[in-house]
Amino acid sequence: MPYEAWDESRATAIVEGYRRERGGLMPALHGLMEHFGYVDEGAVPILALAFNLSRAEVHGTITFYRDFRREPPARHTVRVCRAEACQAVGAEDLADHACRSLALDFGETSEDGEVALEQVFCLGNCALSPAVMVDDRLYGKVDADRFDRLMVSTVGEGRP
Ligand code: FES
Repeated sequence: MPYEAWDESRATAIVEGYRRERGGLMPALHGLMEHFGYVDEGAVPILALAFNLSRAEVHGTITFYRDFRREPPARHTVRVCRAEACQAVGAEDLADHACRSLALDFGETSEDGEVALEQVFCLGNCALSPAVMVDDRLYGKVDADRFDRLMVSTVGEGRP
């Protein structure tokens, strides 16, 4: 999903839409996530003012919930399934290969911001295990070779 670059006045307008809602902080945070793909540090004073909270309280909420990213998302997200059905047919080897191949651990983003690697526990594609998702596309029966070909065709040349 394409996200807009952080923009303070746009963020203020989004937050304003939730200001009168009871318990509006959480929906406002989700609104910012949907729009920008993360919650910029610059949103903290905007949210604090709108919901009459201290900056520390807003910051505490953002950091408490892991759903709220605090950095812009990578251009591409690679998700490798590590749940049982995939594990039974080699997902752990594939997970190791994905980490080596992208030179990332799960939960990390490449320094250039191009690709993030995540582990997930079932992509609903168990019949075609091992499963991988690249951005919003699902792939099945992925082995190391297919993974590398997928990276070249989706994330781009030079990766891995
Ligand atoms: S266990 Fe991997 S897709 Fe369901």
